[in-house]
Amino acid sequence: MDLRPYLTKLETLKELQRIEGADWDLEIGTLTELYDEKQGKALLFDRIKDYPAGYRVATNLMATPRRLAITLGFPPDIRHIDLVRSIRDKFNSLKPVQPVTVSSGPVLENVFKDGEVDLLKFPAPKWHELDGGRYIGTADMVIMREPKGNWVNVGTYRVQLHDRTTLGLYISPGHQGRLIREMYWAEGKPCPVAVVFGAHPLVWTPSFLAFPWGTEEYTLCGGLLGEPLQLVTGEYTGLPIPAYAEIAVEGDCPPPGVESRPEGPFGEWPGYYGSGERTEPVIRVKRVLHRNDPVLCGSPPMKPPCSGNASFVMRAGNIWHELERLGIPGIKGVWNMRAGGSRFLNVIAIEQKYAGHAKQVAMAAMSGQEGAYHGRFVIVVDDDIDCTNDEDVLWAMATRCDPATSIEIIHNCWSTPLDPTLPPEKRAKGDFSNSRAIVLAVRPFHWRKDFPKVNRASDALRETTLKKWGHLFA
Ligand SMILES: Cc1cc2nc3c(=O)[nH]c(=O)nc-3n(C[C@H](O)[C@H](O)[C@H](O)COP(=O)(O)O)c2cc1C
Repeated sequence: MDLRPYLTKLETLKELQRIEGADWDLEIGTLTELYDEKQGKALLFDRIKDYPAGYRVATNLMATPRRLAITLGFPPDIRHIDLVRSIRDKFNSLKPVQPVTVSSGPVLENVFKDGEVDLLKFPAPKWHELDGGRYIGTADMVIMREPKGNWVNVGTYRVQLHDRTTLGLYISPGHQGRLIREMYWAEGKPCPVAVVFGAHPLVWTPSFLAFPWGTEEYTLCGGLLGEPLQLVTGEYTGLPIPAYAEIAVEGDCPPPGVESRPEGPFGEWPGYYGSGERTEPVIRVKRVLHRNDPVLCGSPPMKPPCSGNASFVMRAGNIWHELERLGIPGIKGVWNMRAGGSRFLNVIAIEQKYAGHAKQVAMAAMSGQEGAYHGRFVIVVDDDIDCTNDEDVLWAMATRCDPATSIEIIHNCWSTPLDPTLPPEKRAKGDFSNSRAIVLAVRPFHWRKDFPKVNRASDALRETTLKKWGHLFA
């Protein structure tokens, strides 16, 4: 649960690049993008301009399927379809592990209260040229307790650095943290909140995945780690904070009528500054906790296929898990094409078992907690198609989908102000819903046996041919 041995492990495996002397103002963001574009190493920035040595920023930690596999304990060179299947298996069999509260931990090495709070001491990057400010929170964990229960939700929501004591918190409509803070505001109260800005990737992961309302993400961290997550109790909020967090803050998020500030624009994951600048709630920070020489973890959104985190693979695994939890048979693979970020081009391979099966799968995938938010295309293919191979999927779309009869449009689905296609008049009304296309790129079920045969050389023919002619391909 400690980020530092993880960084050492990446370095030993030649998966980490140290960079000294970069500027927090655009250089860290641009280098992060340039490395991710080539699916290069994870980055650890030190001696950042204007900051003392030791105040570091780490990016692209789980940015490739290979590093995701290393992080999850799978073979680094595992095939993509086997990686997503293994993630599905992990979620199918994941046993929640209760966290333990400890009295001390590295995050308490430095504690600053009230007037001592100074958030500018951290090298929060300005990630993209048109960003409206510096974002300290991208790979973060926003921690809130449901007011009437004891459930603690942890979500990844972006956090802008406004000034020494104030942060901006953007949560899209429908996300669980937003629903929780609205419960406090309905009673005219501020919402207590803690935010972690650097953690071991397995501690971070459950906060950016979607789970049913009421799921304790901390128990899933324990399940992924294979040991109980250690937590300290925040002195100001009473909220549980991972003991090995690099940096954490505690404070209040007052109702927007009491205080809110312009937030954004911010370069967002679909590859645009979609939501522009709006007025959003703030966090009034009352405590800052951090380890000596803290590592601020960042995962800035980037224009796809870049993402800086392999959440497109994790989400595919979680959607596969959701479909199986519903008991739907015949699911052979789930994927998200990188060109569509982690959500816009969701592909599911099935062994068709009955008429209507393909559509059932698509409707279910776009309705589960993981698949429902901010989607666009759900593409169903037959199981002879490798759903992790974009060209194979596009070939299936090009040859098995009759646009007039195999594409369905579903209106008024759960989306977000980040959606670049949202028309200005809908945006002005606060209607952030969008549509989905279900693309059935499968052989029509009732005459699938008569569908023309594929003209690719069979595996057996390839093998005998290669026995004779293999030297041509040496
Ligand atoms: C790097 C990263 C940044 C994210 N930033 C935001 C954000 O700013 N606001 C938001 O609402 N969701 C954001 N998300 C998506 C949510 O974390 C995700 O949908 C998660 O399931 C929300 O948690 P919840 O289901 O507990 O609300 C981000 C995800 C990632 C991977």
